[in-house]
Amino acid sequence: MPVVVVVGMQWGDEGKGKIIDLFAENVDVVARYQGGHNAGHTICFDEKEFVLHLIPSGIFHKDKLCVIGNGVVVDLRALADEMRQLEEIDIDLEGRLVISDRANIIMPYHGVSDQGREKGDGKFQKIGTTGRGIGPSYADKIARVGIRTCDLRDEKYLHSRLEANYEEKSQVLKSLYGQQLPEFDGLFDDLMGFREVILKYLADTHVLMRDLIAQNKKILCEGAQGTMLDVDHGTYPFVTSSNSTAGGACTGLGIPPTKIDRVLGVVKAYTTRVGEGPFPTELFDEDGEQLGTVGHEVGATTGRQRRCGWFDAVIARYAIALSGVDALILTKIDVLDGFKTIKICTGYKHGGKVFQDMPADPEVLKHCEPVYTEHEGWLQTTAGVRDFDKLPEKAKNFIKHLSDLLETPFLIVSTGPDREDTIQLGPLFPDS
Ligand code: IMP
Repeated sequence: MPVVVVVGMQWGDEGKGKIIDLFAENVDVVARYQGGHNAGHTICFDEKEFVLHLIPSGIFHKDKLCVIGNGVVVDLRALADEMRQLEEIDIDLEGRLVISDRANIIMPYHGVSDQGREKGDGKFQKIGTTGRGIGPSYADKIARVGIRTCDLRDEKYLHSRLEANYEEKSQVLKSLYGQQLPEFDGLFDDLMGFREVILKYLADTHVLMRDLIAQNKKILCEGAQGTMLDVDHGTYPFVTSSNSTAGGACTGLGIPPTKIDRVLGVVKAYTTRVGEGPFPTELFDEDGEQLGTVGHEVGATTGRQRRCGWFDAVIARYAIALSGVDALILTKIDVLDGFKTIKICTGYKHGGKVFQDMPADPEVLKHCEPVYTEHEGWLQTTAGVRDFDKLPEKAKNFIKHLSDLLETPFLIVSTGPDREDTIQLGPLFPDS
């Protein structure tokens, strides 16, 4: 069972960083397949906290290979900064970090467009993006005008790719957002400067993955964001611009679907989202505030307050089906410790009907009313519990109820941010 994909089941921020970091101990390779530096994976160990935006969380385990796949969009400045920060804490990158030579580069004009659109004084649809140029960069990829990492190898070709973009971007930035694109030479020199830092890490990561799979290496594919932010299956248009579902691992790393052995889904014991868009179980009361405060629900990338609500089984079932999830990882159950009553949404009420499937239309979803089942809270601490039997009876029942409702077993229950605050209920690789 060498290839495992880990996917977020909600709107991101499910705690994937800790889980990937935990699993990294038992694998040879950790590979990112989509997104960019919009992601923020927080890892806590030795009483220290690190936030990674681009480089896979496996980098903290010294003997692991970390891959940034072709499906990721790479901001060279953000990458170079992250590399420097890791080197400053003595994390060796050479021979351990590999970046796809087919990944698209996020250019400075992508960030300007992204922020311009978001600030557009009502002229454009506000998505609540991270403002990091993710959408415009993927748009250029699909429009076939993107600049790729392999272009850095050939100065003349790189020059021609930037030339092919410059005039258009310059006009768009000026007329739509009132912004001046930096001089061509400055942009080009910046690219050339980053080339020195990045070139030695570039490789054909499809070939690398193919060979690693042939050698039976254990590979963990790390999804960023979450299912409901998937550009095809999420709450469009309030989504990110990549496929965060398990299928993204195939296209974003060049791994055939037949080589994926296991898909694990990470769910938080309640729901959060950042940015705009419908969120049926969102709470605007003291319970929502309590979830946000106790759960420290502040965005790791933008510092924005996350919107909070009860666990939504409609979303979780949808995410399980979309990615073919074999087992689940439940995070932040300890955040529910202080609640007398805990709710789970089991369906949506709309137009006099109750349904269990996700509607495509955001206006319908916006007006869906959640149907809840209630659970008596355990009102005892689960924080730091490492043995399932030591959980309060009511917390065990809650987990069992979730598992029944979602028709999927739990592999891990996480009871705190630290690596050690973990209840493991089964092996990561059952057949090995
Ligand atoms: P973008 O990915 O910056 O274009 O933002 C699109 C939407 O995805 C916005 O609602 C963001 O808040 C959300 N988003 C992007 N990355 C993350 C993440 O890592 N966690 C949670 N939400 C995210």
